[in-house]
Amino acid sequence: MNLVVYPEKRQIGQAAAMMFAAQLLKNPRSVLGFATGSSPLPVYESLTALYDQGLLDFSKAVSFNLDEYVGLDRDHPASYHAFMQQNLFSKINLPQENIHIPSGTESDVEQSAKAYDASIAACGGIDLQILGIGNNGHIAFNEPCDCFPDGTHKVQLSESTIAANARFFDSADQVPRFAVSMGIGSIMRARQIILIATGKAKAEAVLGMVKGDITPRCPASILQLHPCVTVFADPDAAALL
Ligand code: GLP
Repeated sequence: MNLVVYPEKRQIGQAAAMMFAAQLLKNPRSVLGFATGSSPLPVYESLTALYDQGLLDFSKAVSFNLDEYVGLDRDHPASYHAFMQQNLFSKINLPQENIHIPSGTESDVEQSAKAYDASIAACGGIDLQILGIGNNGHIAFNEPCDCFPDGTHKVQLSESTIAANARFFDSADQVPRFAVSMGIGSIMRARQIILIATGKAKAEAVLGMVKGDITPRCPASILQLHPCVTVFADPDAAALL
């Protein structure tokens, strides 16, 4: 695990965007894994800037997102579909038909989760996956539990995640209680991973991820076993290392 600490979120965004740019320049047909939340926003801003400068072309790339809330229509302003559209997809030339985000409104969640994993496999797997980290050490919506889930699946959100994500809704009551999330196996199969952690609230989780026991009680700790992970942190998130 490669750990890089920068004082500013802006620098983290630029450095992580450089890794996406390198991947895309090496292979214009790259399969890119995107995440939601505040952490990747500076990366999406930098990717947009590189695209605006004419340095990046997403027209042949394919993307897969990590997760979506169950029960939220894709047009709901707090859905991850809407988040990605607003913060990245409306600003670059990634074709809509190449974009994949788990659906939170399927009647058969299990079936659509299997189909999602099959699509990732059919595209040859994810080349570069970006992740944030939850205050409780979750990655995507893989909450602390007794085992590491493999594929895409339905998860019950923990109280701490509901509280942390309430800021995107009018109140905590409106945060969906379930989500569809790529599994830990899906994430670990990505060939390269970038994880971004900023702010004091992430310090415990970052400590567990980097130096703790590998345990599903801190899902991000599994990343210690991945051969190609770069963690970008700010001094607050790295404070306990
Ligand atoms: C959500 C997402 C995660 C994200 C986490 C942290 O729960 N499902 O993918 O990493 O929030 O979000 P933030 O970056 O806003 O702290």
